[in-house]
Amino acid sequence: MTEKLFLKACNGEVLATPPLWLMRQAGRYLPEYREIRSTAKGFLDFCYSPKLATEVTLQPIRRFGFDAAILFSDILVVPDALGQNVSFIEGEGPKLEPISSEAELNKLEDQIDLNKLAPVFETIDRVKSQLPKTTALIGFCGAPWTVASYMIAGHGTADQAPARLFAYRFPHVFQRLIDKLVVASLLYLNAQIEAGVEAVQIFDSWAGVLPREEFLRWCYEPVCKMVAALKQAHPHIKVIAFPRQATSHLSMMAQTCGADVLGLDTSVDVVWAAQNVQNHITVQGNLDPLVLLAGGDRLKSQVMSIKTALQARPYIFNLGHGILPQTPVAHVEQLVKLVRS
Ligand code: CP3
Repeated sequence: MTEKLFLKACNGEVLATPPLWLMRQAGRYLPEYREIRSTAKGFLDFCYSPKLATEVTLQPIRRFGFDAAILFSDILVVPDALGQNVSFIEGEGPKLEPISSEAELNKLEDQIDLNKLAPVFETIDRVKSQLPKTTALIGFCGAPWTVASYMIAGHGTADQAPARLFAYRFPHVFQRLIDKLVVASLLYLNAQIEAGVEAVQIFDSWAGVLPREEFLRWCYEPVCKMVAALKQAHPHIKVIAFPRQATSHLSMMAQTCGADVLGLDTSVDVVWAAQNVQNHITVQGNLDPLVLLAGGDRLKSQVMSIKTALQARPYIFNLGHGILPQTPVAHVEQLVKLVRS
């Protein structure tokens, strides 16, 4: 039996105190992160430095004693290891050489280069040897649709219009990209699992921008296929699916996709989720990152509403999206007390 609260909740146990971790918990809101970040050249070099990546993975665990650590890396290392040109520009975010035609898609490597990602697996090994025995380690990747949306646009957009247009105009070409990402992401996650992560989260940050038919084809089918393949290769691995803002599909996904946990974004009504999602599966979420930034009475009352709505069934306390860089560390300390009291 595991002593790890996080894994117990993934297994469907109802706990007196929910396990707690935060998406993007290793990041710029921590002064010790900013200090190390300033010593690395580019963001990808940082992700590919086992020494630095191990240190920043452990920082939030030391400070807050979260129940799970998440590997420090990025979802865009997959396009990087497929041969696409990826960089991160200070203050602007990711920049990729955009894919706007089948010819450009054909320029990618046939297979993901796992040698390029070897430093990530070394980070996992190092983190594992230093984590408290009650803390779980989560690996991750982006879902094919979300990663493809950056590969096509070449940068972040508000509505993923470039990828949606590409998929409407050239569905067969887009299917090839999605299929390629399913294979690449599975190789990457399986290697993370072999290196020692105990759970994996599939981030589909942009699942919510698609109409039903496209959601089923580009998000639901590829992610469920990945879940099945992961479970087949590693029956004990815990899988968290996070189809952000795809609320109208959550209940169906909880019942049919085979994941162990479903992430709820900030917009999901937890009272509804308790009756329609959590009756089938462990849920994770969904404090508004902005309420954590704001603090005060609303932070207290929102934490209480989430706990009250979800406490009768298995859940993991988290934000509804990543922590914001401006978040005061004191508010995170307060959150830890509120969740555990
Ligand atoms: O959660 C963690 O602490 C682990 C590390 C992690 C990062 N990115 C580090 C990071 C994880 C799990 C991610 C996931 C990720 N990356 C997603 C999915 C989740 C989400 O937020 O929707 C996406 C879409 C990306 C792509 C990405 N990486 C963008 C759009 C950006 C720029 C925006 C920003 O926040 O600056 C990044 C950069 C990035 N990835 C940073 C960190 C800590 C900030 C860059 C820096 O420190 O210089």
